[in-house]
Amino acid sequence: MQELLLHCRLGFEGEAAAEMQELAGEQGIAGYPVTQDGSALVRFVCPEQGEAEQLMRAIDFQQLIFTRQWAVGSWLELDPEDRVSPIITACAQGHIASLMWLETADTNDGKALAALTKKLKGPLERSLTKTRFVRPNKPELPRLHLCFQSGQKVFVGWSWANNGAPWPMGIPRLKVPREAPSRSTLKLEEAWHHFIPRDDWDSRLKAGMTAVDLGAAPGGWTWQLVNRLMNVTAVDNGPMDRRLMDSGQVEHVQGDGYMYRPKRTVDWMVCDIVDKPARSSALAAKWIGQRYCRELIINFKLPMKQRYQEVMQCLGHIQDALDEAGVRAEIGCKQLYTDREEVTCHIRALR
Ligand SMILES: C[S@@+](CC[C@H](N)C(=O)[O-])C[C@H]1O[C@@H](n2cnc3c(N)ncnc32)[C@H](O)[C@@H]1O
Repeated sequence: MQELLLHCRLGFEGEAAAEMQELAGEQGIAGYPVTQDGSALVRFVCPEQGEAEQLMRAIDFQQLIFTRQWAVGSWLELDPEDRVSPIITACAQGHIASLMWLETADTNDGKALAALTKKLKGPLERSLTKTRFVRPNKPELPRLHLCFQSGQKVFVGWSWANNGAPWPMGIPRLKVPREAPSRSTLKLEEAWHHFIPRDDWDSRLKAGMTAVDLGAAPGGWTWQLVNRLMNVTAVDNGPMDRRLMDSGQVEHVQGDGYMYRPKRTVDWMVCDIVDKPARSSALAAKWIGQRYCRELIINFKLPMKQRYQEVMQCLGHIQDALDEAGVRAEIGCKQLYTDREEVTCHIRALR
């Protein structure tokens, strides 16, 4: 039986399952999630033949908040004596792929399988190329995901590059720049990778643009904006990194981010203030609704229990507020790899 395998942050299995259950219901597809707390994976089983793949095609991956990566396929038991042959046999019954990704859950148990996947990589690649079940340089073909649960069990599945994360397990390979004042700089960089198509970077993250960073200190997010040659107003009572201030592109305003309003519309607002999601979402709605900014990225912290409901409520409130203000906007939300107990929201006003 085919199913969807969803990768998520460890501890957020319930949220990823609830989200998929709701979307399957909207599509009229019968299915049920199978979760195990702390596994960082969710199985979504669709008993009707072909419906798991139909569900995958009906859902826009960008709209998934708690799923980092996904694949459609099924589980295979493996014999430690010869793990390669049954995988090749399973591939013969699936799609021709453009590439193979070896994956595990993003957990300590998953990491412990690294030696095994490293050992299998060469033999699997050779067999898949020889059988032509993997044909490189054909990006229109799906990606083959081999997700090992143990040395005896693997999920063999496929996903499409235009409807999935561009990285194995949905984990981007980003490095903290040496000059950045804090590690959280990666959150804004990952958010841009997720929410802004690469072809739009030059027009939407352009030199000379204006930006406001609320809750900016010490300046990890401001560093990203400065790195794109923007002029930044950094609002925070805390101290900003000296070298960043020396760039001459940053004005430091010591004050309350909730009270600050720009003199004229800025291109970007970003906000990493730790607060209740209801307060953060009201702030986001105000900045787009009152046209203080054209585009924004803001974090919603989620220390509470009902995290899926909380996020959906926040997004609902933002949409209502923008409808009331008569402002059309694109609203996206994702739990990024660099997000811990939080999600990142992106809003872009449409003309
Ligand atoms: C998580 S840190 C921001 C880290 C920053 N994004 C970075 O990459 O370096 C949160 C910041 O929000 C600031 N903050 C908290 N409440 C604030 C408020 N009402 N107005 C402005 N800043 C606030 C804190 O002083 C703290 O520096």
